[in-house]
Amino acid sequence: MSVQELFSDAELKSIQEIASRYEEPGSALMPLLHYVQQIRGYLGEDEMAFIADFLGITRVRAYEVATYYTLYYTKPRGRHTIQVCRNLSCTLAGAEGIVDFLKKELEIEVGGTTADGMFSLVEVECIGSCDKAPAIMIDGDHHGPVTPESLREILNTYRGKP
Ligand code: FES
Repeated sequence: MSVQELFSDAELKSIQEIASRYEEPGSALMPLLHYVQQIRGYLGEDEMAFIADFLGITRVRAYEVATYYTLYYTKPRGRHTIQVCRNLSCTLAGAEGIVDFLKKELEIEVGGTTADGMFSLVEVECIGSCDKAPAIMIDGDHHGPVTPESLREILNTYRGKP
């Protein structure tokens, strides 16, 4: 796929601008992956390959970084991604019940996306809200402690968001 098919002129300009902030080209990898995910919703193979070539690093390196961090998505996602923490504090506080509730409420399995493309559901390691266990994160927002009742309200607020 050509670069013109992947990115608009304005997007390419943004990519160059972000990369120019870093002395070491490789240091721009994560910010650029964030940018691409922000404009595409996820990191496609062609986009990751372009970013790697653009920075002069191996494509494997870009893929490794994109798949290591749970905040990067390498598959298409719903408009909002619900991350449920499954680490110790949250598990002890009932994270399994939260996952079960969300699976039933959204009619999807973990890793799935709702039929309307609104929500994707994933399980993740600690999101740094252990004091609010069981905790979840939707897009970049932390919520907790959550209950099935509070989750219904939380989901409704995201249903109204673009
Ligand atoms: S263990 Fe769940 S947020 Fe830390």
